[in-house]
Amino acid sequence: MQAILLKGGTIITEDGIYEQDLRILGEQIAEIGEDLAPDGAEVVDVSGKLILPGGVDPHTHFDLPMFDTVSSDDHYTGHKAAAFGGTTTVMDFVPQDHERLAESIDVWQQKAEPKAAIDYSFHMNITRLNDAVLIEIPQLLERGITTLKMFTAYNGRLRLQDGEIFRVMRVAAEHGMLPMIHAENGDVIEILTREAVAAGKKDPEWHAHTRPAWGAVDAVLRSAALAAQAGAPLYIVHVNTAGGIDQIQYARGQGLPVMGETCPQYLFFNVDHLKRPDGAKWVCSPPMRSEVDNEALWQGLSDDSLQVMGTDHCPFFYDGTSPIEYEGEPVSIPGKELGSDDFTKIPNGLPGVGDRMPILWSYGVGQGRITMRQFVAQTSTNPARIFGLYPQKGALLPGSDADIVVWDPERELTYGVEIARHRTDYNLYEGWALKGYPDKVILRGTLIVDGDQWLGERGMGRFIKRKPHAPVL
Ligand code: URP
Ligand code: ZN
Ligand code: ZN
Repeated sequence: MQAILLKGGTIITEDGIYEQDLRILGEQIAEIGEDLAPDGAEVVDVSGKLILPGGVDPHTHFDLPMFDTVSSDDHYTGHKAAAFGGTTTVMDFVPQDHERLAESIDVWQQKAEPKAAIDYSFHMNITRLNDAVLIEIPQLLERGITTLKMFTAYNGRLRLQDGEIFRVMRVAAEHGMLPMIHAENGDVIEILTREAVAAGKKDPEWHAHTRPAWGAVDAVLRSAALAAQAGAPLYIVHVNTAGGIDQIQYARGQGLPVMGETCPQYLFFNVDHLKRPDGAKWVCSPPMRSEVDNEALWQGLSDDSLQVMGTDHCPFFYDGTSPIEYEGEPVSIPGKELGSDDFTKIPNGLPGVGDRMPILWSYGVGQGRITMRQFVAQTSTNPARIFGLYPQKGALLPGSDADIVVWDPERELTYGVEIARHRTDYNLYEGWALKGYPDKVILRGTLIVDGDQWLGERGMGRFIKRKPHAPVL
């Protein structure tokens, strides 16, 4: 069995910082301690570097059909970009596109399995409810799927009514599953969008104006109230409003098991970015908010009101008409230009899976907004716990999968589309100065990223079955 000894580094976990060596045996971490002897292992000198658990991104959309196109990263290109940014496990959402949930999952698995380059898991979207679906939900546990995403927005497409959400939550509660909510007010959005379009207000900024922050605030509280009445825990995806955090704090203050995720884009950008000539690059749902919301989210991460940093990675080309070269092949997939004269036709979503850890490190840890330990918790350990992967993932412990990032805290670079490696033609953080970047990324004991070199392969990523009854953080 292959043995590797990472020697001379600094180990960062959610609860401590240690000058210790780490031994990998096969796919797992075998031992952590001071001055470990090689004992036949290949010794890798990591002095001056940090050793972090591989990132866990619980919110991605690879190869997702939307409007008249598909998100531009598939389960290979997206996994590869994730790995370069330090992420070794991703969780993707399965659309409820078929009558049976099992069939929807089979189809998603057939797309993902041959391409997966890092480990992965699935959440199940519940966007149509009937008795058969309700009966089938507990069967997802046998497939290691323990989480159910529901939407309070996207009327006529993805939204469930409150009563339907309540019914799903009750089943989730009974079986140790975790409901996840996309919180916006679908009715208000429907009315405002119709009015904006009728008035000829079709620029990208109207995507944000027609999806007000109050709708998100209301939907976070409403979902928490439904979960409380159903006896279920609750995870709010992509929280992006100060008021949403207030509602999470209120619910948690009542002893309710409510948890929140935010994403990097909501920390840095606001509705003004949508007013730029290239504003379509920032169109996603929920939309960019205000600087006050940006600050509140930083505060929420710093005081642990928010537990998780996801990405909602759902990239599209800004100009999908001109091919770009990706791995020697010309690629063009229709993108944001589909909505050049009407914001309602702009595919919703942004690239981010590879940006998450480097951006949060430089602008969170580097600027003193969160600690290194919080960085590890929010990008790896907390999502692993909440989603039933811990301690296999998200941990540097003997017996855990050897998913490891050797992080170079001194590496300085100017970030952008070339470095990020997402399969798209733009990056939200183009030209940003970074300090701190992954140097090596190890997936279950195999080196998959070494500096700028990609050593991973299609199909080496493994589907990870998750456990129910995961703890609430
Ligand atoms: O705009 C976004 N976020 N697209 C992905 C779908 C979702 O609601 O998460
Ligand atoms: Zn969503
Ligand atoms: Zn999403």
